[in-house]
Amino acid sequence: MRLSIKMYLIIFICASVILYQYHLSNAWLISQTSTQDFRVLNAKASEKLKNVTAFFNASSSSNTNSTQTNRTTFVSDCFPPQEKETNLPPLYIITPTYRRPEQLAELTRLSHTLMLVKNVYWIVVEDAVRKSALVTDLLKKTGLKYEHLTAPMPDQYKKKKKGPKPRGVSNRNKGIQWIRKNAKSGVLYFADDDNTYDLQLFDEIRYTKRVSMFPVGLITKLGVSSPIVKNGIFSGFYDGWMAGRKFPVDMAGFAISVKFLLKRPKALMPFKPGFEEDGFLKSLEPFEPQDIELLASNCTKILVWHTQTKKNEPSQALDFAKYNNTNLVMLKQILV
Ligand code: UGA
Ligand code: MN
Repeated sequence: MRLSIKMYLIIFICASVILYQYHLSNAWLISQTSTQDFRVLNAKASEKLKNVTAFFNASSSSNTNSTQTNRTTFVSDCFPPQEKETNLPPLYIITPTYRRPEQLAELTRLSHTLMLVKNVYWIVVEDAVRKSALVTDLLKKTGLKYEHLTAPMPDQYKKKKKGPKPRGVSNRNKGIQWIRKNAKSGVLYFADDDNTYDLQLFDEIRYTKRVSMFPVGLITKLGVSSPIVKNGIFSGFYDGWMAGRKFPVDMAGFAISVKFLLKRPKALMPFKPGFEEDGFLKSLEPFEPQDIELLASNCTKILVWHTQTKKNEPSQALDFAKYNNTNLVMLKQILV
């Protein structure tokens, strides 16, 4: 009897030791196999929180609303202070735009992208004789630093019945003119109102020294227009429409240093459909393709797309007699 109690005791102690060992080894295994996962999770969480901080900082910079400021303080407290917005080289974004059914939708989308970018000046140039209330109201709402200009397409091109027109050229030249008068440093980028922009693009072009270039997606049958990079070195252009151009690139595929531009007082965009980019880049002489700064991880990433919105017919006339005193009267004022 006594013997069996002793035996039970020994078995119990052995079982406890084995269980304890098992527990220890399990903990060790977890710590070995999961450290990596935890690190990834931690990095992701901290990245997310940083994004949240950046978002609040962006909103608070253009908004003095006290609740927003409080929130910023709260989130920022958890992290080292972000680089001050004003320490960043300014980005001058020139956007040509014109009246059409899609205009408000395009500008809304682009403005929401730019609201997430730091130290940005949005130079919106309407292809119109007068500023429109639609664009004025939209710009005010963004809280962005902006310049609202007009530059109608010259009549000789506007009245052209056949062939392509030089779209957005007078607008961009007006924007360049404004930059020459008002900017001293930073970077210029031509952002059409209908393209799609990855936020990383703005981080990358911000440090352009001369002219930077990068791939643009959704261009021609090739699907992309890009500098060709071989062993880390520029070695030509890949574009579905070479047309003997020295710089066969899209308008969205390059950015220019303001200082570099200011040293070239004659640089301008020609009213030559299809050759606007080439003409402008050639007017930046002295500047050769070999001088291009390659961005987007040596042009291996697409950070901007030449998205084209389906064209919509102008809205039909409203039967005012039938819908008088309804919301439709107000909606019709917004519609093209
Ligand atoms: C793009 C470039 O923006 C052109 O400069 C270039 O010549 C063309 O590609 C090309 O490589 O063939 P695309 O996307 O075809 O042009 O033209 P849109 O998006 O219709 O217009 C470009 C910009 O000019 C837009 O921001 C648009 O709002 C503006 N635009 C267009 C005007 O201000 N007025 C117009 O009559 C038409
Ligand atoms: Mn376009």
